[in-house]
Amino acid sequence: MRKIVIAGNWKMYKTQSEALEFLQGFTSQLSETPDDREIVLCVPFTDLSALSKNLHGGRVKLGAQNIHWEDSGAYTGEISGSMLTELGVRYVVVGHSERRQYFGETDATVNQRLLAAQGHGLTPILCVGETKQQRDAGETEAVIKAQLDKGLVAVDQANLVVAYEPIWAIGTGDTCASEEANRVIGVIRQQLTYPDASIQYGGSVKPGNIDEIMAQPEIDGALVGGASLEPDSFGRIVNYLV
Ligand code: 13P
Repeated sequence: MRKIVIAGNWKMYKTQSEALEFLQGFTSQLSETPDDREIVLCVPFTDLSALSKNLHGGRVKLGAQNIHWEDSGAYTGEISGSMLTELGVRYVVVGHSERRQYFGETDATVNQRLLAAQGHGLTPILCVGETKQQRDAGETEAVIKAQLDKGLVAVDQANLVVAYEPIWAIGTGDTCASEEANRVIGVIRQQLTYPDASIQYGGSVKPGNIDEIMAQPEIDGALVGGASLEPDSFGRIVNYLV
C-alpha cells in the first residue's frame, strides 16, 4: 500500500520559540485529519529538541533536513544519524536542490546520506528534479533517471520517500501543472524496483492547489516549503479534500 506523506520543509526558517508557536496553532487543526495521512515537519536542527518534547510521539512526525554519512568524526558543522534518532526524528530530507545547488551535494554524497539514514532507521525523503533549462531542452526524464540511478545504489526502496521537485517550481509560485507532475511521477515510479514507494510532489504547493495535486493518481503526498510555515496554511494542506 502506498502511504500518503505530507511533509513541511521549513528550510532555514523559525527559531525554537517560533517553532513552538507554530505547533500550538497547527495541532488544533488536526482533529479531523484522516489517520492514513502521515504528517511530517522537517525543521532546522535547532528546532528538533523543543518540537520533539512537545510532539509527545503524537500525530506529527519529526524530520530533519540533512544527515552526515558517518556516525561521528571530525566533520565540523555536520549532524549524524544517532544525533537525530535520539531526538525522536523519523524522517530526513536528502538531496534537496538547494543543497545540490549551494552546498556541493552530488549524487554520490546523496547516496551516502541515504544509506546512513536507513542505517539509523530513518526514512529518507530523496529530492529529485530538473532545472528550467533542462526541461526546455527536453532532458527532464534523463536528469531524473540519472539522479535515481546514482542516488539509489544499494538503497532499500521499501523505506524511502521520493519527492519530485522541479527546481523551476520551487519558491516561484509557478507550480508544475498537476497532470504534468503526475506524468513525471509515473516515470519515476517506473524507475523504481519497489513501485509502492511514496512519491511526493514539491514546488509552490499551496492551500489553493493541494486538492488538485492530491487528486492525481500517481501523487502520494507533498513536500511543502513556504506554505508550511503558517499553521492555517499547512493545516489546510494536510486537510486536503478528496
Ligand atoms: P516551496 O513550497 O516554497 O515552493 O518549496 C518547495 C520545496 O523546496 C520543498 O522542499
